[in-house]
Amino acid sequence: LGAAGDRADGTISKRAHYAPPWADVSIIGIAGSSGSGKSTLSQAIVSKLNLPWVVILSIDSFYKSLDPESSRKAFRNEYDFDAPDAIDFDVLVERLRDLKAGKRAEIPVYSFEKHARLDKTTAIYSPHVLILEGIFALYDPRVLELMDMKIFCEADADTCLSRRILRDVRDRGRDIEGIIKQWFGFVKPNFEKFVDPQRKVADIIVPRGVENHVAITMMTQFIEQKLLEKSKHHRAALTRLEIEAQSQ
Ligand code: CTP
Repeated sequence: LGAAGDRADGTISKRAHYAPPWADVSIIGIAGSSGSGKSTLSQAIVSKLNLPWVVILSIDSFYKSLDPESSRKAFRNEYDFDAPDAIDFDVLVERLRDLKAGKRAEIPVYSFEKHARLDKTTAIYSPHVLILEGIFALYDPRVLELMDMKIFCEADADTCLSRRILRDVRDRGRDIEGIIKQWFGFVKPNFEKFVDPQRKVADIIVPRGVENHVAITMMTQFIEQKLLEKSKHHRAALTRLEIEAQSQ
């Protein structure tokens, strides 16, 4: 059916109202404190779903580039990466809208070791399900509007901090002193100010993250149900189009 809808005489037929299935990605948002287990929870949902076209997109990919002075601050653990201003929401929204429209989206590649965007990008083609995870996944109203399900991942602050120390030393080229300085300077106060309030817009609050098998089962069942509804909707739309075409 492609871009069906435009008639030779310039008018638009009813076909214009048909959105192809690949343009109907279900977006699931997972917010929560740094170290609360958002990435692990996302992976658990993906493996439980067992579908071919599921993509996890991290909001971390949309950290803004820094000017030289801010970059020096970042290396001294004096830059605030835990305020919404640090994220390029405009680009994120644009990419999500592209994916919703069935278009290919170029996703920036971010280096935590360099505190910078790399020169390359990764391409994503519209999946059936997209899990958007990050401390500010439920923050921007334009992003919330595109979501089918909003999750807040909960964990004790000491669990979050210990996970963050282990991960930042192992994967992000950090030292323990710097991690603790950043935690008390920015991560903890901004959790209270910006991250925690996102609970209010969440559909589900998941305690114990990936260990919560009941919540993971409920979430995957909901997503499967959504996909089934969408597939029925497209089948019905296609049947309507076929009838319309035959009667012309
Ligand atoms: N951050 C950083 N240095 C940067 C950019 C971001 O230290 N150059 C930190 C921010 O302080 C923020 C964190 O990265 O708190 C966001 O990533 P986080 O939520 O910890 O990682 P995820 O894998 O997305 O989540 P989780 O730990 O819950 O799995």
